[in-house]
Amino acid sequence: MNGGRATPHRGGDTGWPGVHGKRVLVTGGTRGLGEQIVRLLAAEGARVATCARTARGLDALAASLGSSVFTRPLDVTAPEELEEFVAATGKRFGGLDGVVACAGGSRGGGFEQADAEDWAATWEVNVGHAARLVRAAVPYLRKAGGGSAVVISSISGWKPGPHAQYGVAKSAQIHLAASLARELGPDGIRVNAVSPGSMLIPGRRWDRMRREDPDAFARFVAAEFPGGAPVAPQEVARVVAFLLSDWSSGISGAHLPVDRAQNAPSPDGY
Ligand SMILES: NC(=O)c1ccc[n+]([C@@H]2O[C@H](COP(=O)([O-])OP(=O)(O)OC[C@H]3O[C@@H](n4cnc5c(N)ncnc54)[C@H](OP(=O)(O)O)[C@@H]3O)[C@@H](O)[C@H]2O)c1
Repeated sequence: MNGGRATPHRGGDTGWPGVHGKRVLVTGGTRGLGEQIVRLLAAEGARVATCARTARGLDALAASLGSSVFTRPLDVTAPEELEEFVAATGKRFGGLDGVVACAGGSRGGGFEQADAEDWAATWEVNVGHAARLVRAAVPYLRKAGGGSAVVISSISGWKPGPHAQYGVAKSAQIHLAASLARELGPDGIRVNAVSPGSMLIPGRRWDRMRREDPDAFARFVAAEFPGGAPVAPQEVARVVAFLLSDWSSGISGAHLPVDRAQNAPSPDGY
């Protein structure tokens, strides 16, 4: 296992090193993008830990993935719960090679509806949790000789859109990744931000629109996606796996939109 500092490229690579044997903690792994990241990493031979608030979702995930996944119900906005889970994962796996801050979301409505608590809650679940996750993981990543941290932002953090409290928090995540990449670089720790476009997630808004109002969905796709379809969470998960792998050793402090050229958040919200 190469859990440590990535070897600089010297040419002559014979194959994709993948994430086999990597020890990775992903927050928010029971639904949507987080679930796809956890499933892909497990399928590729990584040891994966994940958390969510609802135990039932974690139990279902563990039942289908077996002992390759370590789960714990917790709220990522509770600092001590998250820190303790990082420590428990580091202990259980004998170290950590990567973390993915995927839990996130938005509280409150438009600018005149969202109150101070909505802004604070949206900040904490996106920025606060990502910063604490990386901070708690640093000793384990450093001990492994380096590693990779991926922060899931959004194209809402890159270009303006509705729900300013969300866009501002997602924008801060991009800045966080770039700043931490500079600060932690000397320890061989890479930090990058990935910004999905509007993903087609089963049961969520765009998927419901696709099933309930195909004409409106066709208009949405035509207006937003030059590639003819929204990006799938599985496609975003592959980019995250790449950033956790040693083939991305040259990438740190980057912001990587994975949006099939959507380019900006939908004015209809997300
Ligand atoms: N959906 C999109 O189109 C889209 C586009 C761009 C960016 N993103 C970003 O991508 C990430 C994943 O989004 P998604 O839509 O796939 O998410 P989702 O379907 O809402 O799933 C969120 C996951 O995070 C967990 N979670 C949420 N709040 C949590 C908390 N406070 N503590 C612990 N776990 C928590 C959820 O489980 P519990 O509810 O059980 O806690 C679930 O496992 C987010 O950072 C989001 O901002 C999403």
